[in-house]
Amino acid sequence: MTKLRLGVNIDHVATVRNARGEGYPDPVRAAEMALAAGAVGITAHLREDRRHISDADIDALAVICRKRGRPLNFEMAVTPEMEAIALAHLPHAACLVPERREEVTTEGGLDVVKGHNAITPVVRRLVGAGIRVSCFIDADPAQVAAAAAAGSQVIELHTGAFCQAVRERSPDASRLLDNLCAAAREGARLGLEVHAGHGIDYETVKPVAVIPQLRELNIGHFLIGEAIFIGLGPAIQRMRALMEESRAVNAA
Ligand code: PXP
Repeated sequence: MTKLRLGVNIDHVATVRNARGEGYPDPVRAAEMALAAGAVGITAHLREDRRHISDADIDALAVICRKRGRPLNFEMAVTPEMEAIALAHLPHAACLVPERREEVTTEGGLDVVKGHNAITPVVRRLVGAGIRVSCFIDADPAQVAAAAAAGSQVIELHTGAFCQAVRERSPDASRLLDNLCAAAREGARLGLEVHAGHGIDYETVKPVAVIPQLRELNIGHFLIGEAIFIGLGPAIQRMRALMEESRAVNAA
C-alpha cells in the first residue's frame, strides 16, 4: 500500500501563545520540530479572527517551509482576503475550509454543492497560480463530486464526527467509518488525491490510516496536547508509527 504522509497542524501552539499575549511558544519553532520528527509538511489555518495563527506566523512559516523544501498547507476560508494572502505567498497547498466566527473549531465540511458558484472561481485562480487545492468536505458522495467539478485536485475528508463517535463509544462510529471509506473510494475513482483530518488521536488514527485511498492525514490538536506530556517530537513519532503499523497490517 502507498505510504501515508503526516501533515502537522501547529495552530494550537499559537493558541497557547495568544492566551497570554506573549511571543512564546513559537509556532515556527514547533514547525521546525515537527519537520525534524517526521512530519512531511506543516498545516496552518489563518482564521478571519486571527484567534491563533497570525499573518506574521504565515509569513515566517512560508519562509521556513520554502527553505527546507517542505510543503506548507494553508488552510483558508473562501474569502477575498484569504485568497489574496494565498496568492501573495503561493504555498504548496491550500485547503478550503468553512469558517464561522462563533465555532470552536471547523465543525463541518465545506458545502461545495451549495457554494459551487462562489468556490469554483477561487479554486481555478489558486490552481492557476500553481497551488494544489483541496476542499475540506464531509464524507458525502455529493460533496466529493462537487469538489471534483469545482476543479480541486484534492479532497480532505472531515474525520471529526467519526473521531467523536469513537471517543463517546457511540454505535454510529462504524457507519461514519463506512462513509469515510466510501467517500475515499469515490474520490480516488474521480481522480482526486484523498486526505483526511480533524479530531484524530492515537486511537482513531488506526481505523482511518487503513483506508487504502488515503495519501495524507492532517493532525493538530491532539499532538499539541500530547506534546505537553511527552514532547512534540515523540508525539509525532508515535503517531507516525501507528500510521505505519496500521497500513502494514492492512497490506499484509
Ligand atoms: N484538517 C483541517 C482542514 C482542519 O481544519 C483541521 C483543524 O484545524 C485539521 C485538519 C486538524 O484537526 P485537529 O486539530 O483536530 O487534529
